[in-house]
Amino acid sequence: MLIEGPVDMVLDDGSHVCSDRFLVAVCMCKRSKIYPLCDTSHRRRKPTQ
Ligand code: FES
Repeated sequence: MLIEGPVDMVLDDGSHVCSDRFLVAVCMCKRSKIYPLCDTSHRRRKPTQ
């Protein structure tokens, strides 16, 4: 999900994640290694057998 920045997100544990970017990509799939920010992991597909 793309949202207008800057943002200051509060996680469930109370920690903050800030971004000063003009547009911020927030992870909605929870696969991102930099969650809650999107690292495009949502694009990767599992190899088919
Ligand atoms: S939406 Fe989760 S990695 Fe992009």
